[in-house]
Amino acid sequence: MNLRPMLPTDHTDLIRLFKTTPGVALRDADSYEATVRYIERNPGLNFIIEDEKEIIACVMCGHDGRRGYLQHLIVKPDYRKKGLGEKLFTVCLSSLRQLGIDKTHIFVFKDNGIANSFWQSKGWVLRDDVNLYSYISSNSANA
Ligand SMILES: CC(C)(COP(=O)(O)OP(=O)(O)OC[C@H]1O[C@@H](n2cnc3c(N)ncnc32)[C@H](O)[C@@H]1OP(=O)(O)O)[C@@H](O)C(=O)NCCC(=O)NCCS
Repeated sequence: MNLRPMLPTDHTDLIRLFKTTPGVALRDADSYEATVRYIERNPGLNFIIEDEKEIIACVMCGHDGRRGYLQHLIVKPDYRKKGLGEKLFTVCLSSLRQLGIDKTHIFVFKDNGIANSFWQSKGWVLRDDVNLYSYISSNSANA
């Protein structure tokens, strides 16, 4: 298994991984152009793990200069519970720390039981003091 930076050429394989993983929402923001923009805006923060054949895990991470944000942490079912999820977010947190960013957020669907168990088991704190509001500036139903 090999952990390496995510590349634009990974996009097709990543979309396949997103589409076949329950709990992961595929949005307009996962288009090729948007993914390349994200990777280029956030160098050293987006990773995949591959075996000889395919991508088996990934994580996307960015920051706004103040806080870090994780998204799309995914490990293929056959490879779960071997520490790959923790390895991927740990690499991201370490890169963020080098940029001076010590606090990171992740948005998790309330009905994603596996993910909620995972983050809590890794010491991430569930917030009950924050409401998340979103606004869509386009006509897309899937922004
Ligand atoms: C969440 C996810 C990334 C975890 O990846 P992973 O490689 O299995 O995680 P790790 O091996 O690093 O950590 C495993 C630990 O997380 C917790 N955990 C993982 N899966 C769990 C499950 N199904 N039920 C309860 N706890 C679970 C446990 O504490 C587990 O430790 P254990 O093996 O000693 O029981 C993976 O399950 C996944 O890809 N899920 C689908 C995509 C997704 O929902 N991503 C998160 C979006 S926010």
